[in-house]
Amino acid sequence: MAELVQVLKGRRSIRNYQNQEVPEEVLNLILEAVQWSPSWANTQCWEVIVVKNQDTKQRLQETLSQGNPATRAMVEAPAILVLCGKQGSSGFYKGQVTTKFGDWFMFDLGLATQSLCLAAWNLGLGTVVVGLFDHNRAAAVLGVPEGYELVAMLPLGYPAKQPAAPKRREISEFTHSEKF
Ligand SMILES: Cc1cc2nc3c(=O)[nH]c(=O)nc-3n(C[C@H](O)[C@H](O)[C@H](O)COP(=O)(O)O)c2cc1C
Repeated sequence: MAELVQVLKGRRSIRNYQNQEVPEEVLNLILEAVQWSPSWANTQCWEVIVVKNQDTKQRLQETLSQGNPATRAMVEAPAILVLCGKQGSSGFYKGQVTTKFGDWFMFDLGLATQSLCLAAWNLGLGTVVVGLFDHNRAAAVLGVPEGYELVAMLPLGYPAKQPAAPKRREISEFTHSEKF
């Protein structure tokens, strides 16, 4: 088991995958990371669609914006985990929004996504968050019902290549002392 910091810093977006299935028990461990993610008032507004069918993967790939660097990954990875969020629950109390930000489902899904990616990496698996695509078209392919939004698609599998880490801003560039 790698140290948490090692996993946090070592995780990379993987866009090239080996032709190797993800065992069900490993997939389940990754889904457990979603299950135990924090969410607004524990609303757990996430839904995850596991796509393994090659034809469906291809149809989802077609929804990606032209030039998206994750295009090949959409059909190369043995599985695509599609994260959907229930609307009108996270950030709401008795049906009313509670903050100026309205629906917090994107925030909760972001946390769940990071949990998922780190758990996968810790198990030797790669992921890449795919956000640049036609969301309505992808939702239609997967039959996502009214009241839910398909937010991100994550190819999942064993990495074929280990990319270099894209540069990060220095801590001093984004940390403020006492005031912005
Ligand atoms: C919300 C979100 C959407 C993203 N969408 C895409 C995408 O559509 N295609 C892609 O290739 N990478 C996508 N990425 C991956 C980022 O490009 C990547 O995380 C960033 O370059 C840092 O690299 P690293 O993940 O290896 O540290 C997305 C990441 C996030 C968090």
